[in-house]
Amino acid sequence: MQLDSGPTTAFYGTFIHSKSSQEIEIISNGLLLVSASGTIVSLDKDVEEENISKILASHGNSALSVKKFKKGEFCIPGFIDTHNHAPQWTQRGTGRGLLILRWLNEVTFPHESKFEDPKYAEEVYAKLVDGFLKQGVTTASYYGSLHLEATKILARICVEKGQRALVGKCNMERNAPDYYRDKSNIESLEETEDLIRYIKTELDPQGLLVQPILTPRFAICCDGELLEGLGQIAKRQPNLMIQTHFDEAMQEVEATMQLFPEFNNEADLYEHYGLFNDRSVLAHCIYPNEYEIGRMKACNVGVSHCPVSNTTGGEWGAAPIRRYLDLGIKVGLGTDSGGGFSSSILEAMRQAIITSNARQRMTDGKDKELTRDEIFYLATLGGARVCCLDHKIGSFAPGKEFDALHVSMLPEADAASTMIEDSDSIETIFEKFVMSGDDRNLVSVFVRGKSVKPSQSRQSK
Ligand code: GUN
Ligand code: FE
Repeated sequence: MQLDSGPTTAFYGTFIHSKSSQEIEIISNGLLLVSASGTIVSLDKDVEEENISKILASHGNSALSVKKFKKGEFCIPGFIDTHNHAPQWTQRGTGRGLLILRWLNEVTFPHESKFEDPKYAEEVYAKLVDGFLKQGVTTASYYGSLHLEATKILARICVEKGQRALVGKCNMERNAPDYYRDKSNIESLEETEDLIRYIKTELDPQGLLVQPILTPRFAICCDGELLEGLGQIAKRQPNLMIQTHFDEAMQEVEATMQLFPEFNNEADLYEHYGLFNDRSVLAHCIYPNEYEIGRMKACNVGVSHCPVSNTTGGEWGAAPIRRYLDLGIKVGLGTDSGGGFSSSILEAMRQAIITSNARQRMTDGKDKELTRDEIFYLATLGGARVCCLDHKIGSFAPGKEFDALHVSMLPEADAASTMIEDSDSIETIFEKFVMSGDDRNLVSVFVRGKSVKPSQSRQSK
């Protein structure tokens, strides 16, 4: 019998990952060994082909077959989507031009309410998880709808299909229509605890793939009592993650301040209720003032940068991502689909560059635009840090789990973007993928060492 610590899978070729927010590492002729449980056992660099068997023998498994990446192919860590709304999968991009509160009431709430029907949830969530895996999203932080049963279904489907995920039942007891809001704060909290118990004791007791996450929609939909109750749950469970929308739109900030006149800003509000700490994943973060940025840094919150929805929803906004990175605040990328029209992290990466360009202009050059390597970091290691999973994923450091994408830029990948030339360096090929590749360039998708790419229909967004 194979011991778990020994390798059971081997990959040979080019590996690319982030060493920091600024720096990528390109490992040529790398030999990466993975154990049966999906952990990276070792990553040797500059290995001559004739030395592979010697290294395998030193791990006690010289007969291991080796998956080789060809020239024009490489392996990167899986993408991490730090913010997305599972029940908005079939409404992506609709309701353009509407400001946030109207968009929620007219487009989103009527749509999300359909997830009361478990059969509908089963059908849509199966497509959603397949769709994300196909696009290389190996980890997603999901908002569910407010429905407990549908959200359990989402968590179960993630486990069945092998996607790593944080899954939350959305808390929203007010400022939403009667047909789509929690019946009471007590029920909202009880159902939240029920989901946590289900995931932690029934579905994935070892926490291999799926973990629960507290998900107050935003303070407009949650009064002080509900936020207080959620904060108490967070306090009792020190590893439980938290996600909400933060300083997303001027209309939203104004409405929040009217509902909570006792606070001067959203940072103080969420901090007061115990929901603003190193386990918080805060979507958008476009409009914090200097004081709030200071609290974000001091409390070590994570920023989910959602450039697609930020710039195509009703209110255009460019979050100060350069400032966050300079200050060492954790930042990752979110598709925010369906407020974001695309569920592709590659598209979010490109939109992050476009938005940072605008920000550079808006600040007279002070906030420098993001680089290719920084957007790659945000999509991988940065996202892992935001989700407090960087001890497990985000790069190819031995000891982490093998969540990875086998990328091919060769003509047989049949991607419209395929355009590499013999003279291209690996750096250029990588850049072509980052800037113009899509899911057709993903030959395989791995989570915990297992191949999880669904085989059916084509998806490119
Ligand atoms: N704020 C509260 N709910 C939502 C939502 O569903 N999408 C976005 N983008 N912002 C929100
Ligand atoms: Fe959102």
